[in-house]
Amino acid sequence: MTGFFRRHTEWTCDGTPLSVVAHTFGTPTHIYSGAHLTERYRAYDAAFRDVAHRVHYAIKANATLGIVRHMRQLGAAADANSGGELEVALRAGFLPSEIVFTGVGKTHAELERAVGLGLAAINAESLGEVDRISAIAQAQGRQAHVALRINPDVDAGSHPHISTGSRITKFGVSLDEARHMVKTMASKPSLKVVGLHVHIGSQITSAAPLAKGAAVVADLARELMAHGIPLEHLDVGGGLGIEYQDHQAVVSPDDYAAALLPIVRSTGLTLLLEPGRWLVGPGGALLTQVVDLKRRPDGKWFVIVDAGMTDLMRPALYGAFHRIEPVTSRDGEPILADIVGPVCETTDTLGSARMLPPVEVGDLMVVRDTGAYGAVMASNYNRRPMAAEVLIENGAPRLIRRRQTVDDILQWDL
Ligand SMILES: Cc1ncc(COP(=O)(O)O)c(C=O)c1O
Repeated sequence: MTGFFRRHTEWTCDGTPLSVVAHTFGTPTHIYSGAHLTERYRAYDAAFRDVAHRVHYAIKANATLGIVRHMRQLGAAADANSGGELEVALRAGFLPSEIVFTGVGKTHAELERAVGLGLAAINAESLGEVDRISAIAQAQGRQAHVALRINPDVDAGSHPHISTGSRITKFGVSLDEARHMVKTMASKPSLKVVGLHVHIGSQITSAAPLAKGAAVVADLARELMAHGIPLEHLDVGGGLGIEYQDHQAVVSPDDYAAALLPIVRSTGLTLLLEPGRWLVGPGGALLTQVVDLKRRPDGKWFVIVDAGMTDLMRPALYGAFHRIEPVTSRDGEPILADIVGPVCETTDTLGSARMLPPVEVGDLMVVRDTGAYGAVMASNYNRRPMAAEVLIENGAPRLIRRRQTVDDILQWDL
């Protein structure tokens, strides 16, 4: 068994008791199961074995170097969403030819770096950006590899804050615009149009919208190739959702591949995928300690823990649900509780109205499925130092990010 599971009475990560991790590294700490990350990557990659494909791990989901290196060692390529993530990819050992670079509002400096590196593809988001890439490539005497991000106007059926494929969002260009743009791009000697890109959102729990988005770009690719524009790949982005709640219906990579492959195969193009959440979400958890307990007049409890929205922003940002459990359950009457952090915001609530076994100050709790969009969204609000991060590798915990100190934070203040 890999990942987070109970052994005897205690939650473990790959069999390492979470109390041992807390004792060694303190709390709050993000913990990752190396074995589970490996298992997920292999399952995802295997689902697409019947077509030429590359899995570009979406670094935005978890950009800690130890995790990004782990994905690279498994054979992944990389998807970077900012200049910072580009440097993470390089530092983790990815070759420029293994990196695609996406993002609305890439700065001039970011584009200069991307063109200079000779990335596998810069996923362009607008006509203006195409012109800027072209000018930079010309100035550098290079030919930049570009793909155009299409906005297919598809409803991802996910939370509106993480849906990116409808025409009212800021992402990509419409199909009509794309037809003209690709032809213009193909006529510029400073650009090589290598593919089309689409990403309709994240935490998508049915295959249909993903397949619909892919079909839009596959049709356009066929049309463009029929007009003599050679393409190399179709990049269908990430988006596959995970089971945050018990028995939540989600799509497996195999079912996703079954929906996608007939669409992609007919183009003859290499398939690029950019999964983030599905690969690293369930393999991470946030370990925290109870620092106080309060009872409301209506009988409900506040369980106040030492992790908050600064360590895991998803509940405050999207009302996201994460399972939360005591690391070791006590016997006794269950309590109804909100599990809250110490930050001075009422939205600093990790879980609302949960039935929990009785807890006491000092008890450890585990917030599950925080491997994606967890540590990476951390902030220093309230001058709170960011949590430590620990990867369980071959059954042993390794610190992959040391806990920040207040001195670390203050060193930038002049
Ligand atoms: C362009 C792009 N690719 C890939 C991803 C990864 O998505 P997910 O973590 O849902 O797989 C994102 C995240 O939203 C993204 O914006």
